[in-house]
Amino acid sequence: MLRKENILLVDDDIDILELLQRHLQSMDYHTYKAVSVKEALYILKDAHIDLLITDIQMPEVDGLELLKFAEEHYPEMPKLVITGYPSVSGALEVIKAGATDYLTKPFTKEELRKAVLKAFEQSSQRKYSKNKSNNPLAGLNAEMVGESDAFGKVTDIIERVKDNKATVLIKGESGTGKEMVARAIHYSGKFSRAPFIAVNCGAIPENLQEAEFFGYIKGAFTGANENREGFFQAAQGGTLFLDEIGTASLAVQSKLLRALQEKEVTKVGARKTEKVDIRVIAATNVNLLEEIKNKGFREDLYYRLTVVEIDVPPLRERMADIPILVEKFVKKYGIEYKDRLLRITPEVFDILKRYPWPGNVRELENVIQRAIIMGDGTIEVKDLPDKLKFQIDFPDTHLVSLDEMVKDYVQKVLIHTKGNKTKAADILQIDRKTLRDKLK
Ligand SMILES: Nc1ncnc2c1ncn2[C@@H]1O[C@H](COP(=O)(O)OP(=O)(O)OP(=O)(O)O)[C@@H](O)[C@H]1O
Ligand SMILES: [Mg+2]
Repeated sequence: MLRKENILLVDDDIDILELLQRHLQSMDYHTYKAVSVKEALYILKDAHIDLLITDIQMPEVDGLELLKFAEEHYPEMPKLVITGYPSVSGALEVIKAGATDYLTKPFTKEELRKAVLKAFEQSSQRKYSKNKSNNPLAGLNAEMVGESDAFGKVTDIIERVKDNKATVLIKGESGTGKEMVARAIHYSGKFSRAPFIAVNCGAIPENLQEAEFFGYIKGAFTGANENREGFFQAAQGGTLFLDEIGTASLAVQSKLLRALQEKEVTKVGARKTEKVDIRVIAATNVNLLEEIKNKGFREDLYYRLTVVEIDVPPLRERMADIPILVEKFVKKYGIEYKDRLLRITPEVFDILKRYPWPGNVRELENVIQRAIIMGDGTIEVKDLPDKLKFQIDFPDTHLVSLDEMVKDYVQKVLIHTKGNKTKAADILQIDRKTLRDKLK
């Protein structure tokens, strides 16, 4: 479980932001990142921040202004300043403006740790830390289940962000539950009555993306016979979920960046801008940093999107979630297809607990659904797909030679073909003579 404290990091230097984030996350703090004072103000307004760490020299509004503002509105919140110039007068100025302490660049992780601990000690902020309920799932979309520590971390972050409008990027392999996480954030938070608009960026042809996202006015292009709202306007007050954000066109990306920065959008063909008040949650199963290198994704947009990042780990890295997921799906599909609660045999359960699930939770769900549709009552090994039944596993207690393993596998295939050697040889793609040799 993460610690209680939320730390807001403000710096126009993205490398410093990333470094701070890495260090603080390794100390189990939760971080929000802002690349400007303006961004920081939005986050301060919405999220419960326990410590502010800010740079001083920044373009547009500088960190001193932020400090003064924070001192006036959040006097209890400790404020740590990072400066590049350790002059005495500069230091005095930041302390006067309300900083609890300051750290000069470059700093080590240890210096950061000490400064953060000291900042917390010096403040009375702690007594304001909300007592969270013991059940991290309380109030969450009841559909989402899990028992592993990794899953606990995910639900912990959901709890923290659900009531504020900080932009969230959800990363994870296909089928890990990214969309579920996005929905859980929206529906368990205080904006749940406002719309949740999910958009699969990959499903919209590039030439239509701008119009779909931002709307258009009559006559903007051939076929635009009326004014139309886009996803941004439709999500007003609520959440816009941008799935597969990596496939958004570069044109949309630059408009998206503007929308996130300025909190306003312009319909295609319009001159007027419109204010939008929404939370953006994006999801991706590709590595956006790679896309940035290939010039397919804007780096500045990436940093706007990652104010909060959620990594949904693959199922194979949280096998402890399998039993409760199995229970959930068996119940769900048993009732749906067979009108009753079904049982699964211990052998099936054993296989499900050991399979590495390359397709993650979605694959597990599909396997159970299929088994229930195909089977009659209790779920047995025969109801599972072949790749699960005959998975070659490497027991770590009893390692065997390649010959032994081959023999073992040949036996399995023969059991599957009910002793039919021709069929077995076919599956193994060897001739019958080789098969006979292997069996000796
Ligand atoms: N923790 C969970 N509890 C219950 N069901 C889950 C959980 N995680 C995922 N699922 C189920 O697994 C399926 C896949 O989830 P989801 O669509 O959210 O994944 P995804 O990461 O968005 O996948 P993709 O990248 O393929 O779009 C859904 O049917 C969802 O209901
Ligand atoms: Mg998805």
